[in-house]
Amino acid sequence: MKRRDFIYWVGLGSIASSLPVALAACSSQTIAGDWQTVGTSAELDKTGQILAKNSPVGPVLVVGTSKTENLTAVNPACSHAGCTVTWQAEAKKFTCPCHGSEFGVDGKVQRGPATTPLKTYAAKIEGDSVVVKPT
Ligand code: FES
Repeated sequence: MKRRDFIYWVGLGSIASSLPVALAACSSQTIAGDWQTVGTSAELDKTGQILAKNSPVGPVLVVGTSKTENLTAVNPACSHAGCTVTWQAEAKKFTCPCHGSEFGVDGKVQRGPATTPLKTYAAKIEGDSVVVKPT
């Protein structure tokens, strides 16, 4: 084998051996877009909501129970000035304690001063876990 051929095959081999590492690095970005656990269905059933301030996707407020067909999940940071909104179960809306903004179950503004909706997440029960995913 000539020296040039040897260098060629060694180079090709090193590229091939680093390929799995490169693929793993790329797939970790995909995981960030996947479903993330924010609590258990037992926690959700206890109060009808879970506030996960430090979830992998950011702050999340999930509303409903394990029996709810479509769980609601929003980023509870008010779009006006960032106060944490609370869920009003009877009125079925999120209200902000700071300046009175109100948001529907879909996160849309019902009453200002906020003008932009709350960020929403897809949410579901998976096994015993409550999981969310950015929409
Ligand atoms: S911070 Fe929510 S209404 Fe102002």
